[in-house]
Amino acid sequence: MGWDWRSQASAVLAQDRTGGEAGLMATTTALVTGANKGLGRETVRRLAAQGWDVFLAARDTERGSAAAAELDVRFVQLDVTSDESVTAAVETVKRAVGRLDVLVNNAGVGVPATPPGDTRVAELRDVFEVNVFGPVRVTNAFLPLLRAAQHPRIVMVSSGMGSFTLANDPRWSGLVLPQLGYPASKAALNMITSQYARALDGVKVNAVEPGYTATDLNGHAGFQTVAEGADAIVELAGVGPDGPTGGFFDRKGTVPW
Ligand SMILES: NC(=O)c1ccc[n+]([C@@H]2O[C@H](COP(=O)([O-])OP(=O)(O)OC[C@H]3O[C@@H](n4cnc5c(N)ncnc54)[C@H](OP(=O)(O)O)[C@@H]3O)[C@@H](O)[C@H]2O)c1
Repeated sequence: MGWDWRSQASAVLAQDRTGGEAGLMATTTALVTGANKGLGRETVRRLAAQGWDVFLAARDTERGSAAAAELDVRFVQLDVTSDESVTAAVETVKRAVGRLDVLVNNAGVGVPATPPGDTRVAELRDVFEVNVFGPVRVTNAFLPLLRAAQHPRIVMVSSGMGSFTLANDPRWSGLVLPQLGYPASKAALNMITSQYARALDGVKVNAVEPGYTATDLNGHAGFQTVAEGADAIVELAGVGPDGPTGGFFDRKGTVPW
């Protein structure tokens, strides 16, 4: 891999910690969707530990505000399937800060692996509503606040299950049953990431494969800890102005599309 995201991220963090260098703002403001638990919650914890001002966004006010209180960060209600909820969340961030430096589209649902021939369109629609239409709704709504930041970044939390290369690799495909919903939703999110990266000058837009991580999404069958799973999300949230855009990364580097 030609680009070292660890040194890029460290450079930005160093600039943030020193109160801004070359015009960077003193405190980075970030918002993470689906952050009341799992990878989202761990991402919020890590970004806040870096000194960032973090909005923990969750669809359920009780669960979300409890997590935000535990992590001592701000809470904002945000259901990625609701225009009204997303608009209200944008207003909250706008009133409080007036800009957003980093958006992490993390909220997602896993679905049981129904064989392709038995999959109902309604099942697909449900998973696409959260995993595909959700990040588009949230990204477009927050774009004006991202545009108000000096160095905006968007992280799309995707999955290796959305990779055509991995899906066609017998070492990988032997481990995962054929199914439509979840892999197709993450493949769509990957292309959406690529198209946003082409369109949004000055905004770094990257997709992340966290790796198979023990969370509620997979009944805690994943073999990574949430700390390991959040590594790439945190690193891509911190990419510097010379960092990548339109890429797909895991905690070790580039992932094939
Ligand atoms: N765990 C893995 O092995 C793995 C691997 C690759 C990619 N990922 C991706 O990582 C992301 C986080 O997953 P996770 O493993 O941390 O799963 P998780 O613990 O089940 O967390 C999923 C989060 O998404 C939220 N969510 C679901 N629907 C939502 C909606 N309509 N609006 C807002 N939030 C919503 C959930 O909220 P509630 O608590 O209210 O349901 C929860 O906070 C997902 O995008 C997932 O696809 C996970």
